[in-house]
Amino acid sequence: MNFETDEAKKRRPSLIKLPSARALLVQAIAFALTCALDRLLLQPLWGGAEIHKLMFVQGGIAALLSYAAGLERWWWPIQFFFPVAIVVMQKVNLPSGVYLFAFLVCLAVYWTTFQTRVPFFPTRPSTWNAVLPLLPEGRGLRFIDLGSGFGGLVLHVAKCRPDCSVMGIEIAPLPWIVSAIRAVFCRADARFIRGDYSALDLSKFDVVFAYLSPAAMPSLWEKARAEMRPGSLFLSYEFLVPGHEPTIVSLPDANRASLYGWSM
Ligand SMILES: C[S@@+](CC[C@H](N)C(=O)[O-])C[C@H]1O[C@@H](n2cnc3c(N)ncnc32)[C@H](O)[C@@H]1O
Repeated sequence: MNFETDEAKKRRPSLIKLPSARALLVQAIAFALTCALDRLLLQPLWGGAEIHKLMFVQGGIAALLSYAAGLERWWWPIQFFFPVAIVVMQKVNLPSGVYLFAFLVCLAVYWTTFQTRVPFFPTRPSTWNAVLPLLPEGRGLRFIDLGSGFGGLVLHVAKCRPDCSVMGIEIAPLPWIVSAIRAVFCRADARFIRGDYSALDLSKFDVVFAYLSPAAMPSLWEKARAEMRPGSLFLSYEFLVPGHEPTIVSLPDANRASLYGWSM
């Protein structure tokens, strides 16, 4: 089933605006510059440099270009170590099937991260337990986790509040399949659907929970304001909505992130 609305298609960023696409382009430019440096300078002067030294040069150029291209700070070390890691893995000499398997698992988990800019990262039981007291009493409460990952929070809420209708929506295939199987084995009254939350009608829920990323919050907030009914509750773990003070702040775990809530 296609959950993507025309609005969602319009909001989809162009390829070159995606940080992951820019990071790849930067790495390709760094590779070309390193080859040129080796061919035009290092080979005539010193007969060339060893590959492991060139990888550090490429990594350094890529990190500098990432800074110049406005990529966020955490990209810089990734860009630096990426070529180095390639050389190290070649030396380790693992069977090629291992890489294929790892690639397929990553693809299935992080399938759309390059587009959504929301990586998979699970919440912990302390966060699940901080959500529970915020759920209003009363039968038939409808709860949803936007980006439900492997389903930990949804299954916990379903177990502790059997009077609620509990649902998760997840865009990446592997976490979604695993959560759906877990629901069967746990005999939990929870529903998991695969799709993009931006095409979901949030007016159907009393409590909407999200643990996404700073990049996702402004448009999700707009959607929540437009669709959620008065009196419903919007919860976000770790990420605030810029310019909108939360009405609830709770700290599930000392030294960890807060859980924020907005009464709509
Ligand atoms: C930080 S994880 C949160 C995991 C989960 N809520 C939990 O409690 O463990 C964010 C999840 O949101 C999913 N996601 C990102 N964008 C999405 C979208 N537009 N629609 C549905 N799921 C999305 C990602 O695939 C990822 O699994």
